[in-house]
Amino acid sequence: MKKKLIAGNWKMNGGLTANESLVKALLAGLKSPSCQVALCAPSIYLSQLQLLLAGGPVDLGAQDMSQHEAGAFTGEISGAMLKEFGIRYCIVGHSERRQYHGETDALVAEKAQRALACGITPIVCVGETLSEREAGKTEEVVKRQLAAVIHTNGHCISEIVVAYEPVWAIGTGKTATTEQAQQVHAVLRGQLKAASAHADRIQILYGGSMNASNAAQLLSQPDIDGGLVGGASLKPVDFLSIIDAAR
Ligand code: 13P
Repeated sequence: MKKKLIAGNWKMNGGLTANESLVKALLAGLKSPSCQVALCAPSIYLSQLQLLLAGGPVDLGAQDMSQHEAGAFTGEISGAMLKEFGIRYCIVGHSERRQYHGETDALVAEKAQRALACGITPIVCVGETLSEREAGKTEEVVKRQLAAVIHTNGHCISEIVVAYEPVWAIGTGKTATTEQAQQVHAVLRGQLKAASAHADRIQILYGGSMNASNAAQLLSQPDIDGGLVGGASLKPVDFLSIIDAAR
């Protein structure tokens, strides 16, 4: 059976000392998790985390990468560079990147393609804003965002992870209800099935104020295969109980 994946997205948080105590607390509480676990940290800390996580059950992820292979792209980090630090996952198309850095569906699709070419699993984020939801456009928006990735990546689509993150639920304490989340996950699963014979093995994560008290219910839904966790991933006790809920 497909395992669930709980990935922490630290966003722009952390520091050398804080990272070390957070990771040590996490590892101390994680004996042999029944799900996959990953931490997506700011790129400057990836080498520190590579050492702290070595040989343990937690995989390492980045939060963004360049769509280019190499060259004159000041400030960017390539997939090949991430790979050198043992990175297994890279978030692409997070709504904060779409919103604050103008990332388009086409760019996100290219980043996913570059990640796959480098042997990194892209965690492709999709999700609607509050006004899009209120206008009844949720399905249309997430399908458009995922369609771009499917179009660019063809049959390789079975190698990605998808994260449904309703923008209005991120960092707001407002979680989608289990029904709202499952409904969108089922739409995404259907779209993946139409594109790939292996869609059932694609993990579709839910993200947006997932916490220790709502995780078990969200994770019990048939098409919710894990979580992309922001704020709660910075608190070891909370993150551990989300991992525990992902059986
Ligand atoms: P929060 O869990 O803080 O709402 O963040 C979700 C998120 O954006 C994860 O990528």
